[in-house]
Amino acid sequence: MALPTINPTTTNAWKKLQAHFKEVKNVHMKDLFAQDASRADKFTVAWDDFYVDFSKNRITEETLKYLLELAEEIKLKEAITSQFSGEIINQTEGRAVLHTALRAPKSAEFKVNGENVIPEVYQVKEKIEAFTNQVVNGELKGFTGKSFTDVVNIGIGGSDLGPAMVVDSLQYYKNHLTTHFVSNVDGDHVNEVIKKLNPETTLFVVVSKTFTTQETLSNANTLKDWFLKSASQEAIAKHFVAVSTNIEKVKDFGIDENNIFPMWDWVGGRFSLWSAVGLTISLAVGYTNFASLLEGANKMDEHFKTANFNSNIPVILALISVWYNNFFNAESEAIIPYSQYLNQLATYLQQGIMESNGKSVDRNGHPIDYQTGTIIWGEPGTNSQHAFFQLIHQGTKLIPADFIGFAQSLHGNQDHQDKLISNFLAQTEALLNGKTEAEVVAEGTKESIIPFKVFKGNKPTNTIFIKKLTPESLGKLIAMYEHKIFVQGIIWNIFSYDQFGVELGKQLATKILQEFNGKVANQHDSSTANLLRYYKKMS
Ligand code: F6P
Repeated sequence: MALPTINPTTTNAWKKLQAHFKEVKNVHMKDLFAQDASRADKFTVAWDDFYVDFSKNRITEETLKYLLELAEEIKLKEAITSQFSGEIINQTEGRAVLHTALRAPKSAEFKVNGENVIPEVYQVKEKIEAFTNQVVNGELKGFTGKSFTDVVNIGIGGSDLGPAMVVDSLQYYKNHLTTHFVSNVDGDHVNEVIKKLNPETTLFVVVSKTFTTQETLSNANTLKDWFLKSASQEAIAKHFVAVSTNIEKVKDFGIDENNIFPMWDWVGGRFSLWSAVGLTISLAVGYTNFASLLEGANKMDEHFKTANFNSNIPVILALISVWYNNFFNAESEAIIPYSQYLNQLATYLQQGIMESNGKSVDRNGHPIDYQTGTIIWGEPGTNSQHAFFQLIHQGTKLIPADFIGFAQSLHGNQDHQDKLISNFLAQTEALLNGKTEAEVVAEGTKESIIPFKVFKGNKPTNTIFIKKLTPESLGKLIAMYEHKIFVQGIIWNIFSYDQFGVELGKQLATKILQEFNGKVANQHDSSTANLLRYYKKMS
């Protein structure tokens, strides 16, 4: 069954939300809290080790009711079933979307074209586990008989951002291996990494679903050439492994067939860290921790699949985001983790969210006349408080923000942890309440300065409070956002799992590259032509 193709703006719920918006758009959350002592309890979902408080949003019970009606009317339940049952919901590419199968238990059944994929998934997992153990234990040796000390992940987009973010987030759980990530085609990136490497003890993991990506192949070739300055061709089999669906291309590159970790076209690049794309994660933190990450994601999958929508975390977060995006016309959302470990989370989610839902044609192939994907940005607190929070507090734009925090500190430094969490809680409270003119006056502020010190408040936030940062809770958190992406795509009636928008620039870059050797001359607009001339002259 194909996904529903309902224009959300034609639903009854949408019309109710439009009328309702006019009534509540200027209501201050402060008043909503004052009117209802149980507001926080009503708008909180406590699930497993997650405590998600969405009460500091510009919503009432009526708002939530209509948003939930929208989810029903748009046939979200049916869409979830379609996704989990392996239907071809990535219709434009003719593929199923089953990253959830990668973290399902061995006893599960996920069918693609009538075939259960779970046995194959577990075969690859066993290969990842065995390989990880051999590398981590030092059993597997390089070409001079030394154990590996460094791992270089070569990939870009989904073949880089997920592994890089998770390895960074789980650095507390890391083993002795030093991990590096090379992604940018900018040669300065790979050369800076090379400075840190010893060819005798470095393992290269080339990750590319298609194995045709310019950046990844250029970096892999540069690293191979550098490696071959010290080692023989045969040594490549000991030092280079690949993760890909394109076995032939990997072999053409010179990687031994036994060193290929397969993946499948039913796993989208930006949802692939759960597959062998996560090999570097497994190497960095050990297979057991990698398996816990997957278990956490699976728990969130079960929650998403089975919880009623009114207590379903990804569904609620998605609906609230639609409320701001389509009714308040909010353009962006901030992701603010109060954990330095989650430094790369917003960058990772930028691809997940913006590559998935940055679409302007609906599932009927028609242009869209309502807003879709939100702009995602963010940095960890408390650093971001000293950077861009001014604009969130007192700027003219409405920026809904997710505050993510962990109740327990990993290093157990309670003094720091209390300070961190006091900031975490204070910021959402400040964003909610603001500061009135009367309060500013009461502080004895000089009259001419008073307007500058007033905070309007009424700035929406979700608080995602988690007991502790573990591989499992991180798995849940990532899966939570993956399902939020799915729900929003379904509501906006778009295809979330293709990314044709990244192709045009790639095609033009290939053409321009051919011009640099002077043999090809293409037609360009005058601006690009001038810039090309400038480059040729200066380079
Ligand atoms: O940026 C486009 C894209 O296709 C992403 O979707 C993908 O994650 C990335 O390029 C890398 O692709 P591959 O894994 O095939 O090298």
